[in-house]
Amino acid sequence: MQKEQSAAPLYEAVLKYVSDGVVPFHVPGHKQGRGLPEMASLSGQQLLGMDVNGMKDLDFIGNPSGVIREAQMLMARAFHARRAYFLVNGTTSGVQAMIMAACEPGSEIIIPRNAHKSTFGGIILSGAMPVYVQPQCDRRLGIATGVSLSDMEMVIKAHPHARAVLVINPSYYGIAADLKAIVNLAHSYDMAVLVDEAHGAHLYFHPGFPVTAMEAGADMSAASMHKTSGSLTQSSVLLYRSKMIAVERVKHVLDLTYTSSASYLLMASLDLARKQMALQGRKLLSQTLQLARGARDSINRIAELYAFGPEMLGKPGCYGFDETKLGIHVAALGISGYQVEDTLRKRFNIQVEMSDLHNILAIVTIGDNELQVRQLVEALTQLASEAKHKNSPFYFEIPPPPEMIVSPRDAFYSPTKSVSLQAADGEIAAEMLMAYPPGIPVVLPGERITANMIDYIELLKQQGCALQGTADPKVNCIRILGSQ
Ligand SMILES: Cc1ncc(COP(=O)(O)O)c(C=O)c1O
Repeated sequence: MQKEQSAAPLYEAVLKYVSDGVVPFHVPGHKQGRGLPEMASLSGQQLLGMDVNGMKDLDFIGNPSGVIREAQMLMARAFHARRAYFLVNGTTSGVQAMIMAACEPGSEIIIPRNAHKSTFGGIILSGAMPVYVQPQCDRRLGIATGVSLSDMEMVIKAHPHARAVLVINPSYYGIAADLKAIVNLAHSYDMAVLVDEAHGAHLYFHPGFPVTAMEAGADMSAASMHKTSGSLTQSSVLLYRSKMIAVERVKHVLDLTYTSSASYLLMASLDLARKQMALQGRKLLSQTLQLARGARDSINRIAELYAFGPEMLGKPGCYGFDETKLGIHVAALGISGYQVEDTLRKRFNIQVEMSDLHNILAIVTIGDNELQVRQLVEALTQLASEAKHKNSPFYFEIPPPPEMIVSPRDAFYSPTKSVSLQAADGEIAAEMLMAYPPGIPVVLPGERITANMIDYIELLKQQGCALQGTADPKVNCIRILGSQ
């Protein structure tokens, strides 16, 4: 027992990650402190000393009236919002709060089918009814792009009483929809616009990026400062400038979900990252853009690779592009994106943010420099020189969204059981199944499973797609509604 308990596997693994000197092309954007030097200069003792709890002179997150309030006001001003709320449970909690603030049980909300799972969490918590709008897809890359204005218009016209529209700005791969036009359209139908800016906190601090939620006139946005703007993992911000959603309602929802022990380390890092971005963001992000552009050009000189960039603009669903997202199409290497990610880590000590069947994604931030970019380009050059077969990428025709039989919330609270995938034809799903690529859920809780869908899932499995969301990671079984 004592021997067993002397291990601290997680702690040891994280320490090893640090001592291995892994080159991080993943979030958090401060990249091991380089992107937030003022905080990195503190000693371990000082950092641990800052790990305190609410008290009179340090204010209280539940009802801030002192330094937290002041810091949140500065944050709001930096983001051109009316209010800003610090979040210590990531943008996940912000997306959930936005949906709960805008919707009541039964009210409709229009969301892109490729929304993050936090959106589906918000839908279950609020009891809102989702109405899906299918994003466009790029067939060559095999990824979802943005929602087109015409598709959004069609869905809005078919559901004119929906309470809100949710938009992702930008996508993981950096692609942005025509946010401003969507905001104008939704507002003309009295629908609030909620924006998931998990990958877009830095857009606010340089003119070379797609339009931001607050600039576009959206009602609320949740932005992951930690992913791209220098603060510590899990620290995000909820931005508000709505005429439709009452500020008291937002506060009420946050009161419900906030921890009563918000981390001062996370909140202080938000404060500091905001200061840095407000004062130096333009300069830092100019350097970041230059690095990302240099990396993209070098990678595009490698015949087997394609680092997609602003030439995507004008393609269906692609209205804006964030060049700091370095999506690299690797299909011509003859191995999957997953294998490229593994090889980069094992042989070259480089960790990318994510991979799918045909692509890898490296995230370039204010914490990066020439050295890291060179390491990535050299590793990819080496991999390309070893490429044996050039395969032709395939593309899956995604089946249309299935019929929703019960709301996601009702499905969540219903008895469920597990059956083999083949036996699930005609049943109602109790869990989500999502495939990368293209990151669009095949089925969501409450939707009817069809024979077509089962064939599609089998095909995805055969091709080695990453399937996520089900309790059975191999998806031989799926949970459906019903008693055991
Ligand atoms: C599109 C999108 N929305 C929301 C989130 C949740 O953000 P966080 O990790 O800050 O909770 C993510 C996380 O990757 C995401 O990709």
